[in-house]
Amino acid sequence: MNNKTEFWKVVEDRRSVRQFRTQPVEKTLIEKILQTGTRAPNAHNRQSWRFAVLTEQDDMVRMAEAMGVDFQQALRDGGMSPDEVTERARQRVARLTGAPVVVVLCVDTDDLDGYSDTNRDTGEYLMAVQSAALAGGHMLLAAQALGLAGAWLCGPLFAPERVQSALNLPASWRAQGMLLIGYADESPAFRERKPLEEVVQWIG
Ligand SMILES: Cc1cc2nc3c(=O)[nH]c(=O)nc-3n(C[C@H](O)[C@H](O)[C@H](O)COP(=O)(O)O)c2cc1C
Repeated sequence: MNNKTEFWKVVEDRRSVRQFRTQPVEKTLIEKILQTGTRAPNAHNRQSWRFAVLTEQDDMVRMAEAMGVDFQQALRDGGMSPDEVTERARQRVARLTGAPVVVVLCVDTDDLDGYSDTNRDTGEYLMAVQSAALAGGHMLLAAQALGLAGAWLCGPLFAPERVQSALNLPASWRAQGMLLIGYADESPAFRERKPLEEVVQWIG
């Protein structure tokens, strides 16, 4: 099998995996994944992405519980019974803390070019977010290539201040999402993609 074939196999075999074995992940593999993330294309090569890496359960639980505060309030506001809210919150914490490694993908807002033009500032921020997302995609493929698995979870995007304070991150780090990484304990089926005809318009 040549390198190119291996690349396609990695892409085709990757799935979002959310159940993991308890087996810890060797630090060298975590570092390889992070290094691969930093090889992603990124706006101005500014590398304004930042990665908070969690391997301790206590830290994961603290972050998950902090993220759950607003989540639970939203459920209560939606009329859910207290018992159901508690059960949903428990399930959520279990999901967010069930992998041996969590990588919180952040953007360092202090590392962005500033302009007097709001439109330009918004564009700069979006480019930083896009760059962080590309890093996350690279990391998920790297995990797959290394015999690991992972999934992107969006939770931190909706509670960036709580994540920042629970993990004591620099105030300028804005969380965009998180990756669960570990050895897979499930084999999810391929999730069908729309045919190209539906998502592509050939202009010429
Ligand atoms: C930006 C983004 C946010 C996502 N958020 C979540 C999430 O919060 N929870 C979850 O279980 N999966 C989440 N996913 C994973 C997607 O559900 C998954 O990639 C999609 O269903 C396709 O499945 P596949 O990755 O196995 O091919 C997210 C993926 C991306 C890229």
